[in-house]
Amino acid sequence: MNARAGVIRREAHAKLNVFLRVLGRRDDGYHELESLVLPISLADRISVRPADRLTVSVKGAERLARAVPAGGLNLALVAALALGDACEGGGAAIEIDKQIPVAAGLGGGSADAAAALSALNELWGCDLDRAMLTEIGACVGSDVPALLAGEPVLMHGRGELLAPAPVAPTSWVVVPFAFGVRSPDAYRWWDEGGAPSGPDPESLLAAAAAGDAATLGALLFNDLEAPVSARHPEIAEAKRALLAAGALGAVMSGSGSSVAGLAAHAAHAAELASVFPGALAVSGLAGQPSVA
Ligand code: C5P
Repeated sequence: MNARAGVIRREAHAKLNVFLRVLGRRDDGYHELESLVLPISLADRISVRPADRLTVSVKGAERLARAVPAGGLNLALVAALALGDACEGGGAAIEIDKQIPVAAGLGGGSADAAAALSALNELWGCDLDRAMLTEIGACVGSDVPALLAGEPVLMHGRGELLAPAPVAPTSWVVVPFAFGVRSPDAYRWWDEGGAPSGPDPESLLAAAAAGDAATLGALLFNDLEAPVSARHPEIAEAKRALLAAGALGAVMSGSGSSVAGLAAHAAHAAELASVFPGALAVSGLAGQPSVA
């Protein structure tokens, strides 16, 4: 082990689910999924530095920082403890500069966990490879493996089965809400609703790969959207408003609450964002894996 002395920083990118198909409930209570997970430019900033104990602190916009658990429920801390078990890590001061809305379906907590795993792997000189970090990440949360990948992935299973998926550059407007949605609630509402699973994503994946935004916009879907927006009509309302304002398509991300609108290009995303208070113009990362 070759521990490092200085500060190590990572960007923890949020994600959008370009589609999310729920295939059924499993015996372990989780749901079998299929989803195209797209990392986006919106990111928290994580730093880790050597310390005697393991601590996590959160800063950033007060409203966001206050919503993040700083204790044992913080996913970055859970990830650090899990990595520490696997490689005899020591202490570390983890600092999260929060930019990603919380409980918003944007994977913020999972992104922080993925970034913490990557940074601490280096700080502690663990030298675990991606497959081992992914295995640890899967124990921390279902979205952590996909966010460790640092590139668009087609996700299966509970979230742990991943294949790289080609996605051309895309521009989006993300509309967050003041309320969050707890994932277990969203999945339970899907169970109770008995809705059928969404369509085979083959043509959506082809449109995403080809950069055919008009076709892609028409094909976006999320099986959790109907049950969640039945409880939170603001979601369906934002979707209608985005489409009326000229978005090529709109879909709830993850288990909600945020709604993402697909734009034709970056300037279009900025224009759409200016119409919705609190909305963010972001781009999809076609990118190379950022995690060693
Ligand atoms: O794995 P994670 O902690 O992110 O999951 C949170 C909750 O979301 C789970 O406890 C479960 O209720 C639900 N979930 C699910 N199926 C998945 C992922 C999450 O039912 N594939």
